[in-house]
Order: sequence, then structure tokens, then C-alpha cells
Amino acid sequence: MKRAAATALVALAALWTPPLAAQSDPLAPTGRWSAYTRGAAQLPPMGWNSWNAFALDISEAKLLGSAQIIASSGLAAKGYRYIDLDEGWWARRAADGRMVIRTDKFPSALLPNGRTSFRPLTDKLHGMGFKAGIYSDIGRNSCGQIHSDDIPNKPSGTVAEREVGLYGHVDQDIALYFREWGFDLIKVDGCGIRGLWPESPKVLSGEFRALTPLVDSGSLGRTDIAATRALYDHVREALERNNPDNDFIFSLCLWGAADVRSWARQMASISRTSEDIFPIWGRMLHNMDTSIRRPLYAHPGSWNDPDMLYIGTGDFDAKHLTEARSHFSLWAMLNAPLMIGYDLRNADPALMAILGKSEVIALDQDPAGNQAVLAYDSDDVSILVKTLANGDKAVAVLNRTSDPVSASLMASHLKYAADADIALTDIWTGARSKFRDRQDLTLAPRETLLFRATGKRVLPDGLYLSEMPGSVNPAIDGVVAPEVDPLVHRAVLPWAGTRISREPPRYGGWGGAQADSTPWSEQIGIAGKRFDTGIGILANSRLEVRNKGYARFTTLVGVDDSARDRGQPVTFEIYGDGKLLARSRPMRFGEAATSLEANVAGKALIELVARTPGKPRFPDPVAWAEAALRR
Ligand code: GLA
Repeated sequence: MKRAAATALVALAALWTPPLAAQSDPLAPTGRWSAYTRGAAQLPPMGWNSWNAFALDISEAKLLGSAQIIASSGLAAKGYRYIDLDEGWWARRAADGRMVIRTDKFPSALLPNGRTSFRPLTDKLHGMGFKAGIYSDIGRNSCGQIHSDDIPNKPSGTVAEREVGLYGHVDQDIALYFREWGFDLIKVDGCGIRGLWPESPKVLSGEFRALTPLVDSGSLGRTDIAATRALYDHVREALERNNPDNDFIFSLCLWGAADVRSWARQMASISRTSEDIFPIWGRMLHNMDTSIRRPLYAHPGSWNDPDMLYIGTGDFDAKHLTEARSHFSLWAMLNAPLMIGYDLRNADPALMAILGKSEVIALDQDPAGNQAVLAYDSDDVSILVKTLANGDKAVAVLNRTSDPVSASLMASHLKYAADADIALTDIWTGARSKFRDRQDLTLAPRETLLFRATGKRVLPDGLYLSEMPGSVNPAIDGVVAPEVDPLVHRAVLPWAGTRISREPPRYGGWGGAQADSTPWSEQIGIAGKRFDTGIGILANSRLEVRNKGYARFTTLVGVDDSARDRGQPVTFEIYGDGKLLARSRPMRFGEAATSLEANVAGKALIELVARTPGKPRFPDPVAWAEAALRR
């Protein structure tokens, strides 16, 4: 394999451990994997949710109707386990704070003593082999209450009785939902902390109490990130307390706002990266794009959530099987939760076959937990590649446009050698083929070609870190001031259309750690030498890497050519289980890459620290080029 001009290795010896002062140093190694692992989301959760099928017009009959089909059609056996209620179940909050269920829609909830309980429903679902999910809001009021006027099934009563969200009731509600009612998942929305400022019409009219907004989805500057995070962390803590066996899923629904990218992975099982999906091709692409550049932020236990599936409706209905297959393929490549949002009582068999396509589900549920990495991206074509637990690659070639396009899949996209055969299996058709170096493809409008690929690896004796994002966590990614990602392709938000002045950028992700690119999505480069492979991250960062049995860690390090400040030297350190294994000399912008390597045999956790002296306002990007774990 080609190596850059490597200068002197500063390998170290020894086992110098950082002084105690390091304890106050945020970059000090901890020897501990810090992404969330509590809860039951070791793999992305799969199931069904009422929202995309029924919105607020949900009932017990509708929910059980779809659950029965999931069981009888065999979808349950393929992994669809969670049957989730979304908004629309609540009647009001009683004077003692206990939530009351709409018994007109959920008749089994009415107990002989006049109280209401979802226990009969969850018992029924559990008896069918399912897990059960419920919905709430982190504020006092819900999305439906705040944003819709003519909707059915709104909570009714006094102002206080209509306060159905968790705010001020976290411990009481979580205990009720999980201990007493037996739910296994909760989705916690955020409308109650963004819509009820004192001057809003629904506050002035006396309908709801004001709650000074913590979140402005269109402006990170007007968002109280710390306070928002603290509210959700309180829910995490209550979930852990009420579920000592960890059988819970915390689904965080903040639509990518409040810099949730940087903190959800410390507390939530899944976290929404965008506003709502709609059954519109461009909207589905937008939701995908908000997750696609953050593979290093998704791990077993804490996944990116580009929102629920819309297969069955609109651009993804039975007349649009190409689009439906694309949607499903892309969600599987993203390790997205696979939550069906379709009234299965009237499901089309061709769409049931898509939802049940085992080979695609297997990509989503692959035990290695590696979200796909972008190997190529443009307005027309995106190529996503993921490394599977058995070493195979899955690759999706997406035609974003409504015209046919040509694309070439290159051996290099797969990190396979160009001089040996690469075997491809088309996952949807089963067709097998072989190529070397380059495979020319023609894609129908909106088609995604999805393959499993096997070939000769460029790196024969290990894995590049960018091939194992599920095991790499940018615990501290160096981002000082969150910025919106300008590369997320925007799409019309249907409830606002073009009546608003613009679709505001909601996603604070720009500058975060990237697989195979710089934090700003450029090609990694050190002193003019370009690298296809590596981890791009800002200085003053600490990456955690799980080591499953590898003996050596090798990399080339330097300040990236996309640096803006360029004044600060950067020192690179490798730790194994908290002990320093290797350190570079201070490296400056324009200096050739230096090779750094460490013996990591027997070390479970490797930490990669890049530090500059002082605290620059905008730390420069650095590269762990060709970083790899080797046997
Ligand atoms: C928000 C969420 C949706 C759905 C609705 C319910 O818009 O993002 O997924 O839960 O609220 O009102």
C-alpha cells in the first residue's frame, strides 16, 4: 500500500501517563466508550408507528389491525417488533397529574374503577410477541395542539388538563408509562419548548400557558442548547431508573435542532436529524441528507433517525415501486430505525414484499453497526458504502434525479484493489456479476442500485477507521460554535410550502468529524498530498475507537490543507485503555504527514487526541489519514 512521505515516527515509549492535572483537561483520555449503550437499541429498532399512516386519527382498532398483519404476514419474524402510538392517544391530565387516555378511541383502556390504563393494550401486544411504544412531548403541550387548529382527538378540559407533555411531570409520567402501563419505547417530541412564547396567539388567547422557547429550529443562536439538553437528559435518567433491565428505547425527536447532533449520542437510542418526512421524493432525499454526513455519530445503542418510512403513500405507493425500493435501500444503508408508517390493513402485496426484503433488512441490522459512508456525492448521484460484519461491502448507487443517469462504480469507492475481480450481487434482483476497476451503470429515474460486493481489500490486514464508523466515536469533536451544514440539500417543508421566506437550515452539523473527508467535506490533504481514506476532525478533539482484537494502529497525521487559522501547531496522541502509547511532535500547517503507530494488542479502547495550545476560537482541521487497525 502506498504511504506518504512519512517523517520520523515519535513512538513512545513509554508509557508515560498524563499528570493528574489532566483530570481537568477535557481532552484527557478516559479509557471509556462514552456513546450511549443503555437501552435496547443495540441494532436499529424496527416496527410500525401510527403517525405516517393515520396522523392524529389513531385508534386501538387501527393500531391492532396493522399489528395483526405484521404478525400474520411474517414481517414480525423479520424483525419488526415495536408497535408505536404517536400523537393522538391522550384525553387530558387529571388533577392528580395522572394522564387520562381517550377511551372513545382506545376502549380497552377503560378500567372497572373508572380510571384509564394502557396495560390491557400493552398486554395484548406483548402477548402477540411485540414491544409497545408511546409518545409524549418534552414541553407542556404537543405539536398537534400548538400547530394545528382543526384536528381530531385533541386533549380537552382546562388549561392545566390540556398540559399533556412531560414538562414538570417527567418522573410521574415515565413511571406510569413504563412501570404501570408496560411500554418499552417512548418518542419525545419538542414542540412544547419551541412554540409557546408569551406573544404567540395561542398564549394570548388563553388556550395555553407561555413557556419561553428553548428551541428556535431556524436559529441555533436563539436556542438554549444546554437547557434543552438538560430536559432530555432528565428523561434518560427517569427511563434508566424505571427500567433497571434496560429494556427501553428512548426516541429523541428534536428534528436536528439545538445542536442535538453533538449530544444525543450520549443519552438517546435514536435521534431525529431533520424535520418530518413527507411522501415526496425530494423530502425523502432531504431527510436522508441530514443523516448521511454523520456516520461517526451513529453507533450500536445510539442511531441517527432520518424519520419513519413512508412506503405506501404518495411518491412511495404501489405505483412507485422504484421510489419505494430506493427509500427502503437508503434507510437500510443509514442504519435508520425501520418504522413502517402505512395502514397495513389495506397494504399492497408489492409493497409488503419491499418491507419484507430480508437481504435489505440484513444491511440495516448488520451486527457491525456501521452506517454507510459517502463515497461520492453530487446533485445527481450519491454513492454510499458500508462495511458489513463479515467484511463484505454493501453499496448503494442512487439516482437523485427524475431522468436516467449513468454512473461508474469504482473499485476505489469500495476500498478494493483495481487489479482483482470484484463480485457483485444485486440485492433486489439477485443477479450476479464481476468487474475490475470500474463498473459502468445506468440508473432509471430515482433508482437506487443496491449491491453486496466482495473483492481484494486495498488494506489486506485490517480495517480503516472510516470503514468502521460504528466503533469510532468523536467524544469531543472540536466544534466550538455549532454551524448549519450548507451541504444538506434543502427541500420544501410541505406544511409551510413556499409561503415562508425560505426553508431555514435546521441542522447544526458543519465542522463535525467525518469519515473519508475533512470536517467541511473536502478531500483530506496534508501539505498537498491527498488522501481518499481517513478521519477528518477539528483540533482539540478526542476520538474513541473500540478495538476488537487488532494488534497495531497505524496512521499518518498532520494539519489539514483546509485549515483557516494555520497559526497553531497540533500534537497528535494515541492512548490505549487510558495510557499514552505514542505522540507526535507539534505539527504545523504545510508540514508533510508524519506516520504514527502504536501497539494496541490487548487494548479495548483506543483514544486519538489532537491538541493545540490554548483555546483557538476556530480550531483548525486535522487529519488522521489512512488511520487503520491492523492485525
Ligand atoms: C412532530 C414529529 C412527528 C410526529 C408529529 C405528531 O411533527 O416530528 O414525527 O410525531 O409531531 O404531532
